[in-house]
Amino acid sequence: MDDLGLEQLLEEIEQSTASSSTELEQYRIRYLGKKGRVKELFSQLRNADTGVRQALGAKLNHIKHRAEEKFESLKLKLSSDKPEDEQEADLSRPGVPLPLGSRHPISIVRNQMVKIFEHLGFAVSEGPEIETDWNNFTALNIPEDHPARDMQDTFFLQTDPDILLRTHTSPQQIRVMENSTPPIRIICPGRVYRNETISARAHCIFHQVEGLYIDEKVSFVDLKQTLYYFAREMFGVDIKTRFRPSYFPFTEPSAEMDISCLICKGKGCPVCKHSGWVEILGCGMVDPSVLENCNIDSSKYTGYAFGLGIERPAMLKYQIADIRLFFENDMRFLEQFQSAL
Ligand code: DAH
Repeated sequence: MDDLGLEQLLEEIEQSTASSSTELEQYRIRYLGKKGRVKELFSQLRNADTGVRQALGAKLNHIKHRAEEKFESLKLKLSSDKPEDEQEADLSRPGVPLPLGSRHPISIVRNQMVKIFEHLGFAVSEGPEIETDWNNFTALNIPEDHPARDMQDTFFLQTDPDILLRTHTSPQQIRVMENSTPPIRIICPGRVYRNETISARAHCIFHQVEGLYIDEKVSFVDLKQTLYYFAREMFGVDIKTRFRPSYFPFTEPSAEMDISCLICKGKGCPVCKHSGWVEILGCGMVDPSVLENCNIDSSKYTGYAFGLGIERPAMLKYQIADIRLFFENDMRFLEQFQSAL
């Protein structure tokens, strides 16, 4: 056992590398294993001259120590070189909690509405938020100089006065009627835009669910029955509803439906302006000229339509006093809504 051999061995250990767990294991067996170089040298120590044994022993101990240190450092390097998912799992490590997201309250209410109408056989048809003047106004019986255009302050897109952000979901009725033949039974949930001053009760962005049913012999009774059913499913069997005559250019006759105020249960409060009722939708029988605008024979087919707001029912349901909260994306607000839908 000469000194040179030991120096060489130490050098070999220091220069070792391991680029895989197999190589690391080979290193361990070669230098630190039961039949490894270090053990072998220790057993040869017994035959060494007493004069040099002590010095050799100390040197061997140093080599063993370095070989162990090298093993640990190779192991560490190997695991940090691996991508996280390939590293060996340390089962004793505490888990990393994954924060669960929650649905936006508008999505929850929209999904509930969609589900109720789907049960009645309505199919969902979504349309673009950027619309043409024809779909948003003209085809719906709202000509250029019609006073009903004043009801909806419109965002026009810079260069072309024919292109605008839809002010309601009704243009999707036109798209569907122009491209299909009755029977038609659809709902169109979506975002709409109006150039309104933002306040606790109004926003320039909000959401609607449009409904449309066209077939032979569809009557106002069908419309009322559908909306009664909807109100009971959405707000509970104790809800009261009422229809008031109204005016929309695209329906004749037209009506608005109110529900009994969910906050004061009809007794009167600031939310229902002390009337006990809250308006949630406009509706009516599709005007024959709207059917004709879409090439549907108005002597054969009739139909009803409705436009239901999402924000107001959501505010009633969750007792939210300010519509702006829906659009601020404040996590402290959004985290409060949990739903399976
Ligand atoms: N589009 C109307 C609005 O935004 C709501 C509406 C009323 C839709 C009557 C309809 C309807 O389909 O028949 O105020």
